[in-house]
This record gives sequence, C-alpha cells and structure tokens, in this order.
Amino acid sequence: MSRPYTLLSCAVSIDGYLDDTSAQRLLLSNEADFDAVDQLRADCDAILVGANTIRRDNPRLVVRDPARRAARVARALPPDPLKVAVTTSGDLDAASNFFTVGDAEKLVYAPTPPARLAGVATLVAADGLRAVLADLAARGVQRLLVEGGAEILRQLLAGDLADELRLAVAPRLVGEPGAPRFTGAPGGRQPVLAGVTDLGGVTVLRYLLSQAAVDRHWLRVAIAEAWRCPPSQTAYSVGAVIVDAAGREIARGYSRESDEVVHAEEAALAKVDPADPRLAGATIYSSLEPCSVRRSRSAPCATLIRAAGIPRVVYAWREPALFVNGRGVEELGTAGVEVVQLPELAGEARAMNAHLLAGTPSHDPEGFSVS
Ligand SMILES: NC(=O)c1ccc[n+]([C@@H]2O[C@H](COP(=O)([O-])OP(=O)(O)OC[C@H]3O[C@@H](n4cnc5c(N)ncnc54)[C@H](OP(=O)(O)O)[C@@H]3O)[C@@H](O)[C@H]2O)c1
Ligand SMILES: [Zn+2]
Repeated sequence: MSRPYTLLSCAVSIDGYLDDTSAQRLLLSNEADFDAVDQLRADCDAILVGANTIRRDNPRLVVRDPARRAARVARALPPDPLKVAVTTSGDLDAASNFFTVGDAEKLVYAPTPPARLAGVATLVAADGLRAVLADLAARGVQRLLVEGGAEILRQLLAGDLADELRLAVAPRLVGEPGAPRFTGAPGGRQPVLAGVTDLGGVTVLRYLLSQAAVDRHWLRVAIAEAWRCPPSQTAYSVGAVIVDAAGREIARGYSRESDEVVHAEEAALAKVDPADPRLAGATIYSSLEPCSVRRSRSAPCATLIRAAGIPRVVYAWREPALFVNGRGVEELGTAGVEVVQLPELAGEARAMNAHLLAGTPSHDPEGFSVS
C-alpha cells in the first residue's frame, strides 16, 4: 500500500514536552522557526493533525507568507495545502480555525463520519492511520506534513509510517509529568541525523527515518556535487556519492574533478579502497544514470560499479540519447544490481546541463526503476 512522503514536525522543550498542563497553548517556537515551518507548509500537499490538537491549540494550518502563497499559485497549486484531521469521537467544532480560516479543502477521517461536520469538510471513514495515509496517496497527496499532536506522532513512528522528523528543541524546561510529551516507538530503521540548524536559540534537528528519506537526502547531495563540475560543451555535469548501509558517506566525486574526462562515479570510486568491506552494503547515488558506453575511456561507470561490488544504485535523471545511447540501467539491473530512479529530482539534476539540452524534451519520458 503506498503512502505520501511523510514529514513529522514538532517543537519540544529540552525535557521533551510538547506542551504544558495549562489551558493556554505553550509557544515553544520563535519567529524564525515559525517561518521555517511556513516554508514546509508551502512545500507540502496536505497538513495533518490529531483532533485533540485542534481542540487544544486551535491552529490555522495555512501558509502565512504572501510570497509563498503566490509561488504555490504560480505552480498551479491552491495557496494553502489540504487540511486533514483525524478523530474517533467526532468531537470537532465547525467554528474552529481548522475549518474557518482560509479556503483550503478540509478532510476529516473518522470511523463513522460525524454528522455535525457535514458541509464543512469531506468526511471519510478510515480504520487506522495507515489507511488514512493510503487514502491520501490515492487522492494525489505526495507530500504530507504532520504537525502533531503527541498521539498522532507516536502512532506514525510506531507504525513505521514516517519518512522524516523535524524536531525543534526550544531552550526551556517544562517539568510537568502530566503534560504531553514527544514519544516514539522504535519502528523501522535507526534514524539518521541529516542536519542541525540554530534558529536564534531554537535548535532544529532533522532526522531521516526511512530508506526513501535517506535516498532523497543523498541524491540531493550528489546533485549539489554536480554543480561543482568544470563546464563543458560536450559532456554532462554529474555528481555522485557512495554511502554505506548505515547511511554514512564513504566518498563523493563529480565529473572532470581530477582530469578532463573523469566521470563522477569513477571519481568517487577512485577515492575508495577496493577492499573496503562497506562497499558490499553500499549505495551509489548519481545525479545521472550511470553510463554503459564510453568514448573516452575503456570502462563505463556501470562496469566500474559492478566491479566494486556495490549492490545498489539510485539516480535522478535518465541519460538522454545525446552523446551516446546509454543502457546503464538495464545493464546494472541484469547484473543483479538494484537500480532505483527518483524521477522527482530529475529536473534538479538537469539544471546544470541546460546548455547541452536545448531542443530535447524537458522531462524524462522513459524514467523507470528496476529492482
Ligand atoms: N509542540 C508542538 O509542536 C505541538 C504540535 C501539536 C500539538 N501539540 C500539543 O499536543 C497536545 C495534543 O496532543 P494529543 O496527543 O493530546 O492529541 P493529538 O495527537 O493531537 O490527537 C489525538 C486524537 O486524534 C484522534 N486519533 C488518534 N488516533 C487516531 C486514529 N488512529 N484514527 C482516528 N483518530 C485518531 C483522537 O481524536 P478524538 O479524541 O476526537 O477521538 C485522539 O484523541 C496539545 O497539548 C498540543 O498543544 C504540540
Ligand atoms: Zn560514467
């Protein structure tokens, strides 16, 4: 069953509380953090919260910044993402900000759709959060932002239903054992810390929770490497990173890094001891499909990857038949290497090659994965 790419976002005190026990909402974020969350909202298709967060905090769940709203409209999206609530009791007030602020479409999932919300929301019966996420995916939600509360975050973590966690740690202590706390349950793989940012005293920790999140993160690093390539009129700019099974970097490289014809994957592989045992569980991330034919050197990258014993390749952009007719994906797949394409990043991987591509299709019509 497929689900959207799911990003959990919350703010906690140093001692792990999401709120205190008072009637007022405890503000743990500062303006810089709210602004960063506003960007996350602008980048998603839907925002989900639990019913108790609506009852306690009365959040608006809209994109605040007019420029971000305009940018969404320019991308043919509504100014605000879809708002999603889950409830078992159906005890939600149609006068709360969730329903009244903004023009976003609203969806409420409940085991039996509450009659008192008829007319203010689309009501859907769903059994458990896994089913909710599957239904959202079926409705076209690709990126979901979850903004709490404690119970919803716990269930998604325990069910291994989240891809990323953005945890903002505020410099304060709550110390009230009855207050809601951020709790998880070890679900799938070990979280990988992917970034730490200080936003004026609020520390934002970004964790990757799923293979999909690890893949997106490292493929973006490979694409950033591609921007470092010396320019060429006759060859692509490509970046590559080799990462071990635990999600840690082994080596990276980019086209023309050490000489005029070296390819990105080759440049990264040249930095690794061929006997390094981590290669047997590694993934190589490349902004472009690894080549299978080469004019300038005898061994194409697909062959080098197989020779290194790397069992998994993730790439963004399928090589257009411009310089040579590449069959790297097929060749690696036939050799038993797992090959995954993230076509949603193909545009970013093309960007530094735009000068080579005038007149070729602007998307990747035959993008596919072999596993
Ligand atoms: N610091 C932060 O970033 C942050 C963010 C959000 C919230 N919060 C805080 O978190 C607290 C709220 O958290 P919470 O744990 O009490 O509540 P919550 O997670 O917001 O909502 C829990 C409610 O969601 C519904 N629900 C849960 N699982 C469901 C399922 N599988 N299917 C359908 N409905 C389901 C139930 O609603 P019914 O009760 O209606 O049946 C349940 O009571 C508040 O104090 C708020 O201030 C903090
Ligand atoms: Zn190559």
